[in-house]
Amino acid sequence: MLIRTKIRYYFHIFAPAISSNIAVMKEIRILDKKFRELITEKALQKRIKELAKQINNDLAGKELVFLGILNGAFLFAADLFRRIDLPARISFVKLASYEGTSSSGSIKELIGWNEDIKNKTIVIVEDIVDTGNTLERIVDELVIRKASEVKIAAMLLKPAAYTKNIPLDYIGFEIPNDFVVGYGLDYDGFGRNLPSVYAIIP
Ligand code: IMP
Ligand code: MG
Repeated sequence: MLIRTKIRYYFHIFAPAISSNIAVMKEIRILDKKFRELITEKALQKRIKELAKQINNDLAGKELVFLGILNGAFLFAADLFRRIDLPARISFVKLASYEGTSSSGSIKELIGWNEDIKNKTIVIVEDIVDTGNTLERIVDELVIRKASEVKIAAMLLKPAAYTKNIPLDYIGFEIPNDFVVGYGLDYDGFGRNLPSVYAIIP
C-alpha cells in the first residue's frame, strides 16, 4: 500500500491527450517537475540497432573494450553491447565528486578502472553529451593510459551545449538544450527506469 502510493507520487502518468486519434503525448511527473515524452522506446531501440550495425562494420576485425560511464549509461550500454557481434569486453567507470581539501572546491575522480586499456580500441558509452566536460575528462584519461584508438558512442547529444572539439563517432539523437530524463537519465535520482526519453515542460 505504501509502495503503491509512493510510485503514484513519483511517476504519475497523466491521462494521455489523444489528438486526432494518432499522437498520444505521454506526460509524467517526477517530484516537482513535469515531463513530456520526447523519444519513444521504439525509436530508441531502432536507433541502437543502427548504431550497433555501424560499429560492427566500422570496427570489424578489431577486439573492443566498451567503457560505460555510470550511472546514466547503464541501459544504453546494455542494449548496444548485446547487439555487438565483434569480440568485445565491457567495463564501467564512474565520475565521483567529493569535496576537495584545496580551495578549488569539488574535485571529480574517475573510479572503477579494472580493464587494461593500453593498446586497445575503446568505445566510450555515454548516455548524453551536454557540455562535453565529462567526455573530455575520460578521453584525457584514456590517452594517459595509452589506448590505441578511442571511439565515442552517446545516445543523446545537445549540440547547443557542446563546447569541445572531440569528434563524436556514434550519436543516437541530437536533442534541444532542455533537461531530459528516462532511459538511464535521472532527475534527482528518479526516472532512470523509464524506457523512453522525456523532456522537461518549462
Ligand atoms: P557534460 O559533462 O556537461 O557533457 O554532462 C554529462 C553528464 O551530465 C551526463 O553524462 C549526464 O549524466 C548529465 N546530464 C547532462 N544533461 C542531462 C540531462 O538533460 N538530464 C540528465 N542528466 C544530464
Ligand atoms: Mg552520464
